[in-house]
Amino acid sequence: MSETSEIRKGLTGVVVDYTAISRVNPETNSLLYRGYPVPELAAHCSFEQVAYLLWHGELPTASELSDFQAAERARRALAPAVKAVIDLIPLTAHPMDVVRTAVSLIGASDPDAENSSRASNLDASLNLLAQLPAIVAYDQRRRRGQDLIPPRDDLDYSENFLYMAFGEVPAPAVVDAFRVSMVLYAEHSFNASTFTARVITSTLSDLYSAVTGAIGALKGPLHGGANEAVMHIFEEIGEAERAEEWLETALTEKRKIMGFGHRVYKSGDSRVPTMKASLDTLIEHYDRHDLLALYDTLETAMTERKRILPNLDYPSGPAYHLMGFDTAAFTPLFVASRITGWTAHIMEQLESNALIRPLSAYNGEDERHLTASSPA
Ligand code: SDX
Repeated sequence: MSETSEIRKGLTGVVVDYTAISRVNPETNSLLYRGYPVPELAAHCSFEQVAYLLWHGELPTASELSDFQAAERARRALAPAVKAVIDLIPLTAHPMDVVRTAVSLIGASDPDAENSSRASNLDASLNLLAQLPAIVAYDQRRRRGQDLIPPRDDLDYSENFLYMAFGEVPAPAVVDAFRVSMVLYAEHSFNASTFTARVITSTLSDLYSAVTGAIGALKGPLHGGANEAVMHIFEEIGEAERAEEWLETALTEKRKIMGFGHRVYKSGDSRVPTMKASLDTLIEHYDRHDLLALYDTLETAMTERKRILPNLDYPSGPAYHLMGFDTAAFTPLFVASRITGWTAHIMEQLESNALIRPLSAYNGEDERHLTASSPA
């Protein structure tokens, strides 16, 4: 094979390995987690059940779920050292930098971090699943001049996350919309951040290094940072009546419209209908039909103008806004969910590892040599 015959920039369409964790199917516009259609899981399962499914390949029995919940609830409290380090990070830092730093510290503090056995990695994964809500919730509260709220072990994962962020458990409709978002964001095959985690894992580096790298990849606005960017676009447009004019200007300026398009799905992101239904519930609950008008107008204009459909970040951004989260906290919420998919892939990569090292085609200077006149 010649150096240039197979270049696939962005690895578009390149199949690099098998995975049994999820199936993203653009032909049927569907997504399976361990064989289960994600809309079914979003309708009937807790985030804890989905986390267990991704890690173990099967939904938990009642006793397995009870043990899993107890273990997760026992690890929710923010470690004092982690809080102390978060307090050292300036408020000008992006919340994704806080999450990245906190995860890195947790890894550096784990005496078993270099142990890549499945049992050790499962323990580390559960620890991060349990700790991330406290990290995300506390960072948002400290930016508002509010104190840390300790977790409650009488609440499920979603109720407790919202309680630690806002000091109360919101209405069941709001908790359920949050739960749905966590289920939908959990896993999506070899997306950029997951593949980053697999590349790092393929060198036999540790789980925390792989997760830290994945957080860095997810931060980008072409990937996880899009849900935050969607809200910035809504704030920039202001009201529905300005949406079409705004879009024309943006497209003329060759801007990417965040929340639209997808590398794999080309007839719409399979997760959008489920998240949009939850957004609709929140719109009714908070009586924010102005936001719905803006959402619909921009979607219609983008679909008609560019034939590019929304991805999950388009409904999730306004949904998190209505729940009361700061816009900059949206992608950390994505991390709190995707930690399940990332760690499932890390463990899968280790089961049949091969160092990930693609080729490159050289297009630099021809070979040349130093001469007496070469710069000293
Ligand atoms: C996530 O991979 C995953 O599964 C990711 C994810 C997950 O769960 O892990 O689903 C989460 O990251 C969703 C995507 C969130 N990102 C955004 O919303 C950012 C905006 N979207 C675009 O940047 C873009 O759609 C991508 C990056 C998502 C996908 O782009 P591709 O497949 O690389 O396609 P492309 O950028 O080459 O676009 C093809 C054409 C281009 O036009 P031309 O230059 O050929 O004229 O479509 C245009 C693009 O400019 N285009 C857009 C656009 N998306 C594509 N133009 C304006 N706005 C957009 N959003």
